[in-house]
Amino acid sequence: MDTIPTPADALRAAMADAAAEIDLALDMLIPPSEGIEAQLFDAMRYAAMGGGKRLRGFLVLETARQFRVGRDTAMRTAAAIEMLHAYSLVHDDLPCMDDDDLRRGKPSVHKAYDEATAVLAGDALQANAFYVLSEHDTHADPAVRIELCRGLARAAGPRGMCGGQMMDMLAEAAGGPMEEAEIGRLQMLKTGKLIEFAAEAGAILGKAPMQMRHALAAYGRDLGAAFQIADDLLDATASPEETGKRTGKDATAGKATLVGLLGVDRARSQMERLAAQAIGHLDALGDRADLLRALASYAIARRN
Ligand code: IPE
Ligand code: IPE
Ligand code: MG
Ligand code: MG
Ligand code: MG
Repeated sequence: MDTIPTPADALRAAMADAAAEIDLALDMLIPPSEGIEAQLFDAMRYAAMGGGKRLRGFLVLETARQFRVGRDTAMRTAAAIEMLHAYSLVHDDLPCMDDDDLRRGKPSVHKAYDEATAVLAGDALQANAFYVLSEHDTHADPAVRIELCRGLARAAGPRGMCGGQMMDMLAEAAGGPMEEAEIGRLQMLKTGKLIEFAAEAGAILGKAPMQMRHALAAYGRDLGAAFQIADDLLDATASPEETGKRTGKDATAGKATLVGLLGVDRARSQMERLAAQAIGHLDALGDRADLLRALASYAIARRN
């Protein structure tokens, strides 16, 4: 007798499909190139394609599905957000930042190529993300395209990912303890803002009612906070074989994390509370948001 698929099974299948489609979209949007700049294209493709959980891209696709947004439109937006995210990882791994030589189970971009190429590949991935969002094929309505560019710029800029990365580096350099509320702010900026925007993007594409858009943004905010605590817990408790990146580095580097401040058990309770809170924001969407609910459970139970 056939067994009934659980929400986790359905999510796994949907995420695998999304990851494959996002890779195809990235392959098309970052084509291999010839000539003297070919190395830059190679490094961009190396960084963006063939790896990663595609959580942010999946969020775009799944929130867009709630509002019957066309798949191509959603896919281009998902690919753009994954480009931006890939850039943030390439720069995060540089020797002047986290100095990590392993990413997604492969040598980091500055190891596979060199530092200058990694800086430029990151820059170019970021620029390309905005280029893709601004193109007519992404959405017929220019106001929607501007809103996407604006939202991504905010999420990635000084009041988003870059601001959080600055706090992360300064906290590491200071070496002293950081208060819980400050760590929460650091994590909201460096990781939460982009995940929040990915969750909101489907509502922007679908011109959804503000109440729905705010509910999805709130979901993304709590999901992003839980997701970063999960990342910090994996650094403390998982292996490089599982995560595809070096582990046990946050404590050695003196990173400001909730795991460092509160310990594994209390950080885990916080993470579980945030995931439950994220799910609570989806009530207005009814049953059709079940994969988003499953995603919140996955975000905190994952081993990679
Ligand atoms: C890693 O992000 C960096 C964080 C913000 C925690 P992911 O865990 O989503 O990395 P990939 O995309 O799956 O490799
Ligand atoms: C990075 O956080 C967040 C980014 C904005 C890239 P981490 O430094 O903990 O991410 P990993 O563990 O290297 O993936
Ligand atoms: Mg970092
Ligand atoms: Mg890092
Ligand atoms: Mg980490």
